Amino acid sequence: MVSRVIPVEPFDLVIFGATGDLANRKIFPGLFRRFLSGQIPDGSRMIGAARTEQSREIFQDQIRQAIRTFVKPDKQDAKQIETFIDCLHYVAIDARGDAGWPELKELIRPDVVNAFYFSVAPALFGDLAERLKTHAIAGSDARIVVEKPFGRDLASARALNKSLAEYFEEQQIYRIDHYLGKETVQNLMAVRFANILFEPIWNSQYIDHVQITVAETVGVGGRGSYYDKSGAMRDMVQNHMMQLLCMIAMEPPYHFDPDAVRDEKLKVIRALQPVPAGDIVRGQYLGEPRDDKTERMPGYLEDSENPESLTESYLAMRVNIANWRWKNTPFYLRTGKRLRARTSEIAITFKEPPHSIFDEAEGTWQPNQLVIRLQPNEGMNLKMMIKEPGPGGMRLVQVPLDMSFAEALGEGGADMPDAYERLIMDVIRGNQTLFMRGDEVEAAWAWTDPIIADWDARGDKPRPYDSGTSGPDDALMLMHRDGRRWRHIK
Ligand code: BG6
Repeated sequence: MVSRVIPVEPFDLVIFGATGDLANRKIFPGLFRRFLSGQIPDGSRMIGAARTEQSREIFQDQIRQAIRTFVKPDKQDAKQIETFIDCLHYVAIDARGDAGWPELKELIRPDVVNAFYFSVAPALFGDLAERLKTHAIAGSDARIVVEKPFGRDLASARALNKSLAEYFEEQQIYRIDHYLGKETVQNLMAVRFANILFEPIWNSQYIDHVQITVAETVGVGGRGSYYDKSGAMRDMVQNHMMQLLCMIAMEPPYHFDPDAVRDEKLKVIRALQPVPAGDIVRGQYLGEPRDDKTERMPGYLEDSENPESLTESYLAMRVNIANWRWKNTPFYLRTGKRLRARTSEIAITFKEPPHSIFDEAEGTWQPNQLVIRLQPNEGMNLKMMIKEPGPGGMRLVQVPLDMSFAEALGEGGADMPDAYERLIMDVIRGNQTLFMRGDEVEAAWAWTDPIIADWDARGDKPRPYDSGTSGPDDALMLMHRDGRRWRHIK
């Protein structure tokens, strides 16, 4: 497969929060990989901005280290690293004061694409936006990129949208949900809208239910204080899982165009039904029993440093979409920390054929299932019934039509770009398709808020679950009572 890189014009990209974790782990290593692909044109500038007073050389050294740590060794060509490092600049800046802004203005060239990435606490978004305007740094074509969390409820998301809108047009605001940058998430649209096979049966007449699973093995240690104020609902469901659900449930947009795609996603979010408490299971992971082990896995209450915490590290729920296509086809979502395996997938289970002609197959029939594996081992698996080989009648057996994208695509598939790489280049290209629009984020919070408010009002306690399992047992019941079962997390 030939990898095609779409060239962009030279640009000036400012990363606020350039000394932070995301910048070191994802943003700069991602930019370096794009540079290696030839996508960063000569003359582009990448400018780190942060509170720390330090020289350009020290910042460049920080990024050299980040590349050494977070880029695969076979991509670490010393000469290329140095050419990339030469494009880096640094400005010490005060987000709430005036220090550093004139220096930043000096570095920004108004005649190239300007993008400003806010990799900082959301509380600073408004301050940065304001200063970019009052110091006349950002012009009418400049783009700003904001990270999640975008608010913690509808009111705060609205306030954030309002404060950004004072200085920037919606077409200039790129709200990141890094799940949309994942190759396999974009593939959901390709599978649905570039093939004729699925769309005619992609509805409640043929689909029994949909399962969306994002399971992680990591706990929240190290970021417990952030996580404890969020929980799985705010951290994963309101954004990443909502986006996955939209990709599966949306109507075909008339074009692969930012507003056409986002209009369709918005309609899905608005059609989500309120979720009754009985359709939700919340869990919290337990630690390993105390013994003499030196490396004991702590439980959620220790990781969050909040022994009284009622925050969920696991969430399973049954969601209904009130529209023609999905009426009576439930979507079961589950996500959690410290589970048995790191796996994200979407499984679409189809209904029974209307009439069976195989008497001997009685009891062996199993539903067709399309499983789209988002990570790891990205690919698709379509489970089909075929005849069991051998004489003696017509017995049926289910077999997988299994495709790994890496194998199917050869070399190009093995080296899929990281979500951030794709998204940053889309900002430079000015393509908002894979970014959330303000109304979309607000609609997602409008659905989420009453669910969380109900837990708070009742002091709902998450069920404990053992680390390394598939979550609380009650989550099994959520499906069993509907005569369905979760796929095994492995
Ligand atoms: C982040 C969440 O947005 O996504 C984390 O804050 C979570 O809690 C992460 O671990 C999962 O992302 P990925 O790309 O590893 O699936």
